This record gives sequence, structure tokens and C-alpha cells, in this order.
Amino acid sequence: MTTELFDDAPDFEPSAISDRSLVTAQNRSREIEEQIAVDPSQFRVLTGDRPTGRLHLGHYLGTLSNRVRLQDLGVETMVLVADYQVITDRDDISSITERVREVVTDYLALGIDPSRSTIFAHSAVPALNQLMLPFLSLVTDSELRRNPTVKAEHEATGGRPMSGLLLTYPVHQAADILFCKANLVPVGKDQLPHLEQTRVVARRFNERYAGGRQVFPSPDALLSETVNVLGLDGQKMSKSKGNTIDLAMTEDETAKQLKRAVTDSDRHITYDPEGRPEVANLLVIAATLSGRDPVDIASEIGDGGGGGLKTLVTEVVNEHLRPIRERRRELEADPGFVAGVLAEGNARATEIADATLTEVREAMGMVYTP
Ligand code: TRP
Repeated sequence: MTTELFDDAPDFEPSAISDRSLVTAQNRSREIEEQIAVDPSQFRVLTGDRPTGRLHLGHYLGTLSNRVRLQDLGVETMVLVADYQVITDRDDISSITERVREVVTDYLALGIDPSRSTIFAHSAVPALNQLMLPFLSLVTDSELRRNPTVKAEHEATGGRPMSGLLLTYPVHQAADILFCKANLVPVGKDQLPHLEQTRVVARRFNERYAGGRQVFPSPDALLSETVNVLGLDGQKMSKSKGNTIDLAMTEDETAKQLKRAVTDSDRHITYDPEGRPEVANLLVIAATLSGRDPVDIASEIGDGGGGGLKTLVTEVVNEHLRPIRERRRELEADPGFVAGVLAEGNARATEIADATLTEVREAMGMVYTP
């Protein structure tokens, strides 16, 4: 084995992700957006979520609406329900089937169109997972240990010993992206190290196992200007904190959730993200969903206080989500359809993965059929 192969190990210290590489990625993303507008057919997007529960407004504003936008622009989109990623850092998988169904239902309700996009699950695509083996041979354990996202995810488990799957999940993500030769991955900036790891795997595979042939493309991150909203208590929006507005909630449940939202005692509503982060967060939610300016909404509420603000946000959220929720109820009444969409997506992803794995074995001289 050559040690030079690992000499290109990127600097994965978190500081390296700031400034220069962030600006590079942002500029590249702008270029790509222009290319998409001209010719969307040169791109294949791979995105996905861990099925850890129902999707909420944070997902919707942060990634899902962007996904639907790309699909509607004509970019071929592969959407992964990353079920194997659920077991990186937790023991309880009792409700995984149900969670997967919820996520697929959410996708369909908000406009992922199965005739244009492929929705599939990790566990149903064996050849995707098998790519993990050659790929693992292309990374070092210290690269994985230095990965800031792995570190952050591990810290979030509060002292649980790190599983081998958590340590190696950036390589699994490389398989998610490369099995279908996706060249575009919409991500938040915290996920840039993963993309860098994927590019490293692709490059090393091509060099080490394919004699320099481009078996795998080098995918780009697409950093989109999405909105990052907080939960109703001002912390990160997350199911486990009970501070979410789920796509699947009823209008009454939404109103109840929002009544509990944290605001402050100043009755005069102003848009001040630094000084009044919780109030500002609610204003941003209303502004984004209604296409208005948060400052205008604040002055409209004026002395209406937290109560006035919550009433307005409830109306805007419920109005915006009404058609999505209606569609969701229809889908819930037709579980056979939802299951069928996933089965078809799994079959299509399997076809793609099988073809890629064949190519990989050929490149590696591991084909034994006479
Ligand atoms: N890690 C992503 C999440 O936490 C899900 C995911 C799995 C993913 N594999 C991916 C995202 C590949 C982009 C590319 O939701």
C-alpha cells in the first residue's frame, strides 16, 4: 500500500471550514445556480434525511423547500431516507418503519414528485452499502476522528461511546452520493466536511483502483440561501426538545404550540435579532412564509405584544401549510400509495447501485463470472 495515497488528506479542523473554503463554496454555489437556470439536465442531486420523526418547519425552511425548488427547475433528484444512519447513535429503532412512512408522506405532501424524483431507503439498496467496503479502504481512522461533524454528533450523544458506524458515517455518506454519481448535494455549511470527504474518496478511488479513470465524479456542495429558524423556546428546533411545529400538526395543535413560544415582556414588537432573538425568530418564520419583511410585520403588530405576534404567526403558518396538510391527510388515507412510491424508488435506486457496483468491481478486477 502506498502511503502517498493519504498525503492529500484535507485539513479537517473546524477552522479550515470557515472563511476561505466557505467563500469558495459560496462562489461555486452561485455559479452552479446560474448553470442550473440554463441547463438543469447536467445535474443530479442527492439529498436525504435521517428518519428520526416527522418533519418540521425547520426542515421545511432549511432544506425541503429548496429541494422542491431544484426538482421543479428540472434537476433530477434522488431523495434518501437514511435509515441506516438512525442507528449511528441510538439504540431504539422500535418505530423505524413508522418513521420512514411519516417522512415519505411528508416528502410527497410538500411536493416531491415521484414521477420526477426517486425516494429510496438505505437498507433497501444492498449495492449502495457494499460500496462502503472499498471506500473504507481509502480513508484513515485519523481523518475520520478529525471530522468536525462526527465530533459534534458524538458530543450531542452526551457521553455514549462512539459506535463504529458513527465514526465511519462520512464514508457511508460518500457511498450515498457516489452510488448514483450525483454531482450536486444541497447542504448547510456544517455539512461541508462531508462533501470534502466524499470528494477525497472519489479521487482516491479513481487513482488507486481505476488507474486514473473518472469512475466517480467529484460532487459539489450547493449552499443555498435558506432560512435557519430556531425552535419555539429559542433553542435549535428539534423533535426531542418538543419545540417544533410539525408539518403534520393540525391548525389547533399549531396554535397551541405557538402559544407556548418564548417571547419577552416588552409589548412593543421590534425586529432585533441580537437583542430579542426569540421574537425575531417568530418574525422570520412569518416573514419567510408570507414573503414579507420582518421589520414591516413587527411594525404592523406594534404594541400588540407577544400575544399579537403569536396570533399573526399562527395564521401565517396555518395558511401556508394548509394545502400541504390537506395533501398529507389524503396520503395518510392511502398508505398503499406511499408504500408503493418507496418500493418503486428502492427498485430504481437498486438498479443504479447495481450498475455502479459492477463498474467498481470491474475497475478493481473483482469480476468472477466466466
Ligand atoms: N446526514 C443527513 C441528515 O442528518 C442525511 C444524509 C445521509 C445525507 N446521507 C446523505 C445528506 C448524503 C446528504 C448527502 O439528515
